[in-house]
Parts: sequence; structure tokens; C-alpha cells
Amino acid sequence: MSEFVRARAKISALGTYVPPRLLTNADLEKMVETSNDWIVDRTGIRERHMVEKGMATSDLAVEASKAALAQRGLAPDDLDALIVATVTPDMLFPSTACLVQHKLGAKGVWGFDLSAACSAFVYALQTGAQFIATGVHKKVLVIGADVMSSIIDYTDRATCVIFGDGAGAVILEPADDDALSIIDFIHEVDGSGGCALYMPGGGSLHPSTHETVDKKMHYVHQDGQAVFKFAIRKQIELCEKILERNGLKATDVDVFIPHQANRRIITATADRLGLRPESIIINIDRYGNTTAGTIPLAMGTALEEGRLKKGDLVLLASVGAGFTVGVTLLRWAY
Ligand code: UT7
Repeated sequence: MSEFVRARAKISALGTYVPPRLLTNADLEKMVETSNDWIVDRTGIRERHMVEKGMATSDLAVEASKAALAQRGLAPDDLDALIVATVTPDMLFPSTACLVQHKLGAKGVWGFDLSAACSAFVYALQTGAQFIATGVHKKVLVIGADVMSSIIDYTDRATCVIFGDGAGAVILEPADDDALSIIDFIHEVDGSGGCALYMPGGGSLHPSTHETVDKKMHYVHQDGQAVFKFAIRKQIELCEKILERNGLKATDVDVFIPHQANRRIITATADRLGLRPESIIINIDRYGNTTAGTIPLAMGTALEEGRLKKGDLVLLASVGAGFTVGVTLLRWAY
């Protein structure tokens, strides 16, 4: 029997990638009946990045992963496992994790995709952390990557202004110092919210046919207000719970890194929690909602801006289709 040594996991490196092509609010004004003022006022978004034709989720994931590996000075086959959090896999199968493993040349590494929409990155982070905690793995790559432009109807103004493409990857390793590690998490799913945000076509219920395509079932459908209200209520509830059970106050949080779905969701959540304004990371203006990519991209923004430092208490929060909800508490380790 192998001997398992329990360990806490730390994030030891981060890499991010967005495709160079920009889709600005001015571009969208030419495509649908909308305005820069409406988009900025209602969502906080000014521009988002989009892949060129032929570029897929695995390509964004590979670029972000290479950046994370380079930062840590690791070779791809130093990894034990990789998890790809995504709702836009290159195809239904093989998994995007297999494609990423091959493109990286990560020999002997296993992996899988994790589907939890906008909460997928925090779910994958915790899943990876469990492999470290049990001692079975020493290096796990956790990637959040989505090409949302592949499932968006660019004639639907209610959804096309919101989403963008992007990816981020972190490496998880055993913490040398338990104080600088992933501390706690709370995850919940509530399937009663399934019809508020979904893509009905292309699965086993509605396999792709001319009819499903004519009915635009291969695109994202959203009841924006239902998601909006649920997101604020649930993020507040779980953030309060995780802080309380760790004996912490909202003002103890150094860096709040929420899923970037809407600037108003972020500020309403942060205000009601009583978080310090300077702790809140917002980059939705530059990237839009990249689904599983938002939290690692926001970690990247926080690092670039010098607002995330070793020892900082970090609170991650997300709500996504499902509904899926996740909050994570950690102390930044580098
Ligand atoms: O990460 C996945 C989770 N998703 C979310 O968290 C999304 C949560 N929801 C939201 O962010 C917001 O609900 C939206 C940004 C999607 C919409 O904002 P809203 O303030 O809730 O707008 P609304 O849906 O209540 O629509 C208000 C009006 C409507 O017009 P009428 O009926 O009042 O005449 C819409 O037709 O705004 C109109 N509208 C637009 N107008 C200009 C909707 N989209 C647009 C648009 N440009 N792009």
C-alpha cells in the first residue's frame, strides 16, 4: 500500500492568455442594436478578446499553461495531472485535457475536463488541491479556459455583449508553509436554476440537427435578471459563511477575486459583504465574461497591478450556469 502524506496545497505559479483580436463596444454597435453607454453602464465591459477561426479552447489553455510552467521553471512532464475547467471543449470528446496534454508534450500525465460553467475554475482548483492533500500528486496543473465566442449568437444583443475568450492556468504543489496555502472552500450546486442559463442543443437530449441549428439551440440562452439576483444573493451567503467559520471578518480580506460576469454583481456583492474597496479586483472592462477564465485572469491582473502579494488573504467567489456556486479562501504563497 502506498503511504499518503497529507499536505495543504498552494498555488505556485500562474499563467494567462487571451487571443490578440479585440471586439470592442464600438464593433458591437455595428452588429446589434446596442450602445457603448448601455454596455458600460449595465455590465462594466468595454472590450473583450476573440479567437480567430481555427483557434480553440485547447490552444488558449496551452498558452496559459506554458506561461505557468515557465514561471515555475518546470517541464510539462514534471506534472502529475492536469484539469481543464471549461464549458466550451474543443469537441465533446476526446476531452480537452487530452488535447492539452498532447500539445504540451506532457508525457505520462493524466487529466480530465471539469464542467461547472463559471464556477469550473474554483471547482477544478479544489479538485486539484485534493490530489495534493492526499499526497498522491505533487504537481497539478489547473486550467480555466473558454472560447465563449464559439457558442454566442452575435445577433442577440442580450448575450453577445457580455462574453469573451480567455484562459488562465495555475500550478498546485504541496505548501512548504501551511499558513500559505488553500485554506477552505464551499461549493454548492442548485439544478433548479438550470433553465436560467443554458445551451440546449448538441447534447444527448437535443443532438445537433438542421432543426436545432435553425432554432439556435447551439447558442447560450440566458435569463439575465434571474442569474443576476441569484449570483449576488448566493455569493454573499457563501462568502459570509466561509469567513465566519474561519474566524475572519470581511475587512480581513486583502484581495477579493470574484468571477467577472457583471461589474454591478461584483460591487453589490462586495458592498453588502463590507469588503474594503481596495481589495476588489475587477478587469471585466478589458475581458468581458470569459467563464472559466475569469478568476485566473483576474489573479493575473491583481499580480500585474502589484495588488496580490505573498501572505495576502484571498477570497475567490463565483456563480455560474447550473446553478453552480463556489467560494475559496487561501493565502497567496509567492
Ligand atoms: O457568468 C454567467 C453568469 N451570468 C451572469 O451573471 C449574467 C447576469 N445578468 C446580467 O449581467 C444582466 O442581467 C445583463 C447584463 C445580462 C442584462 O442587464 P439588465 O440590466 O438585467 O437588463 P435587462 O435584461 O433587464 O434588460 C433591460 C433592457 C431591456 O429593454 P426593455 O425591455 O426595458 O425595453 C433589454 O431589451 O435593456 C435591453 N437590452 C439592451 N439594450 C441595449 C438588453 N441587452 C441590451 C443591449 N443593449 N446589449
